[in-house]
Amino acid sequence: MRIDIVTIFPEFFNPIINHSIIKRSIAKKKVEIHTHNIRDFSNNKQKSIDDYQFGGDPGMVLQVQPIDDCISKLKSERVYCEIIYLSPCGETLNQTECNRLSVLKNIILLCGNYKGIDQRAIDLHVTKEVSIGDYVLTGGEFAASILLDSVIRLIPGVISNESSALFDSFQDNLLAPPIYSRPSTYKNLKVPNVLLSGNSKKIEEWKEKQIIKITKSKRPDLLD
Ligand code: 6GU
Repeated sequence: MRIDIVTIFPEFFNPIINHSIIKRSIAKKKVEIHTHNIRDFSNNKQKSIDDYQFGGDPGMVLQVQPIDDCISKLKSERVYCEIIYLSPCGETLNQTECNRLSVLKNIILLCGNYKGIDQRAIDLHVTKEVSIGDYVLTGGEFAASILLDSVIRLIPGVISNESSALFDSFQDNLLAPPIYSRPSTYKNLKVPNVLLSGNSKKIEEWKEKQIIKITKSKRPDLLD
């Protein structure tokens, strides 16, 4: 998978690209991440990329030309399956969508800032708008980093224990059961006996029950 990130803050992604599983998935060549600075495509001496919005409302807008030039250049180099604009107006990201994105070959993530980007950049190039929830962020980079993590971990071969992504909360739209490690007693708090029993059939039954119980009490909407 190749992910191109179009942003005015390419350095934002350095720690993310150099962190844990994402770093390893790049080293293992499961994913390529390329950042592109919108400012490099400014066609004026001051290298400005934002301007006041028409219509009088306060707030700066990322201009269409540098974004159009950046994405047009990328599109001339390869075919993109999806060009995603991270925006609170988008469809809320969920596990089903993460699964779908994780098998695509080339995608672009476009990050907006200030009041947003000129609508014509969206109309020209964007195939999908994605939000990460009903709250406001200062920039699309935060949302893009969450999309990166949730998608990259699903790429086959990224998580060494292949099966572990299958047992995630939400993989079947249910929450995960509680988990425990040693010691079996800590400050009078005991690990449920069944987990120490070695009876795998009983353990599976217990987990199934916990999954339903926890989903019912914490996220009943998932069972609708
Ligand atoms: Cl993708 N961007 C911004 N700026 N705010 C958000 C968001 C995205 N998703 C939720 N809130």
